[in-house]
Amino acid sequence: MWGGRFAEGPSAIMREINASIPFDKALWRQDIAASRAHVAMLGACDIVSGEDAEAILAGLDQVAAEYEANGVPEDWALEDIHMTTESRLAELIGPAAGRLHTARSRNDQVATDFRLWVRDAIDQVMDGLQGLQRALVTQAGEHNGSIMPGFTHLQIAQPVTLGHHLMAYYEMVSRDVSRFADARERLNQCPLGSAALAGTGFPIDREMTAQALDFDRPTANSLDAVSDRDFALDYLNAAAQCSLHLSRLAEEFVIWASQPFGFVRMADSLSTGSSIMPQKKNPDAAELVRGHAGRITGCLVSLMVTMKGLPLAYSKDMQDDKPPVFEAANLLCLSIAAMTGMVADSTFNTSRMRQAAEMGYATATDLADWLVRQADIPFREAHHITGAAVKLAEGRGVALDQLPLADLQAIDSRIDDRVFAALSVEASVAARNSYGGTAPEQVRKQVAGARKTLGMEP
Ligand code: ARG
Repeated sequence: MWGGRFAEGPSAIMREINASIPFDKALWRQDIAASRAHVAMLGACDIVSGEDAEAILAGLDQVAAEYEANGVPEDWALEDIHMTTESRLAELIGPAAGRLHTARSRNDQVATDFRLWVRDAIDQVMDGLQGLQRALVTQAGEHNGSIMPGFTHLQIAQPVTLGHHLMAYYEMVSRDVSRFADARERLNQCPLGSAALAGTGFPIDREMTAQALDFDRPTANSLDAVSDRDFALDYLNAAAQCSLHLSRLAEEFVIWASQPFGFVRMADSLSTGSSIMPQKKNPDAAELVRGHAGRITGCLVSLMVTMKGLPLAYSKDMQDDKPPVFEAANLLCLSIAAMTGMVADSTFNTSRMRQAAEMGYATATDLADWLVRQADIPFREAHHITGAAVKLAEGRGVALDQLPLADLQAIDSRIDDRVFAALSVEASVAARNSYGGTAPEQVRKQVAGARKTLGMEP
């Protein structure tokens, strides 16, 4: 393609290090679409004849059909998907193929193709995340009143509802959705027509190509357009943050599924056995989601470091932008699908969860709050009195509400028998009815709001 200036061809090493076709063949659909938009514009602007434009369009259709049927051939001598397609086009339609590259360069071509690919990847992730949200909301609705221990420092802190816990992940995923939507909006400008770096002397119509490819507008600065990969970084950043959320949820399942917890029974379809220990059922899918978060974050770091310190405009380093994005996209889609299945198909052992919530004096705060409300004791003093009650109960190995009233009154005479109603785990969660709190009533409201947002039946 650029042989005119060279006396010798590239060495084998040059060919190998230069070739991006092994991975950028994944861009073939986008490459054909962008070429179609470009040549239609060249024809409309009389830069190539209507006849040549028609021949090129028909030829591109044929190349696309071949790729669809047989895959993209991988010839390192042709470097990348752009040259592979153009060379096949030339074989099919002859010299007219050489007019396709008028008023463009591989630099604006790859920037356009890659934006189109990332845009599709965002749309796919958004679909997946919506499925995960639906699964979370469905389980949360069913378990709005299921009581479990809430933790801080992974120590039992206060009783919460499982629905509330699951809706916390719904919130995280909602922020992920908005991050991807935001990335998509910023991405949606068309670099095509920026040519190598400086624009072109041909009378092109950039609005026309932008529209044909469903972009909102053409990019404003050709130097920036061919060397900008912020859109890929925005995507990877959103992917990395999303993967961290998925990893945290996966970790909950790993803990909950372990025998000492026994909060959840994971579906067989997302578990594995052991080749040596017949009794084992391992949460491998959850562990791999946790592991994939590390790889996805690595992809983000990889592209950030690639871009750091590149002067304007295009440099070949930027060819290395694609593998981390492809890898992250693949891992993220798998992770979302695995977590959606895990949430939807797991069975929660609610009686075990409730039992655990009764351990560890989880309603101690409720005793302190009762003293504040019923006996008008300042919270700090109530906290102190409650500490003494916990110490006594712990010494006897009983729960707070199993202490005889006389013993409680010996600690503080203002305690009366109404206190016992406040000490059950049910009373504890029902009392936390502040906006966003764990009370079943609040969870039902959160779930109803989320179902509406997701377009689910009430
Ligand atoms: N394969 C190249 C890439 O992915 C296409 C752009 C090549 N441009 C160039 N000036 N050599 O970045």
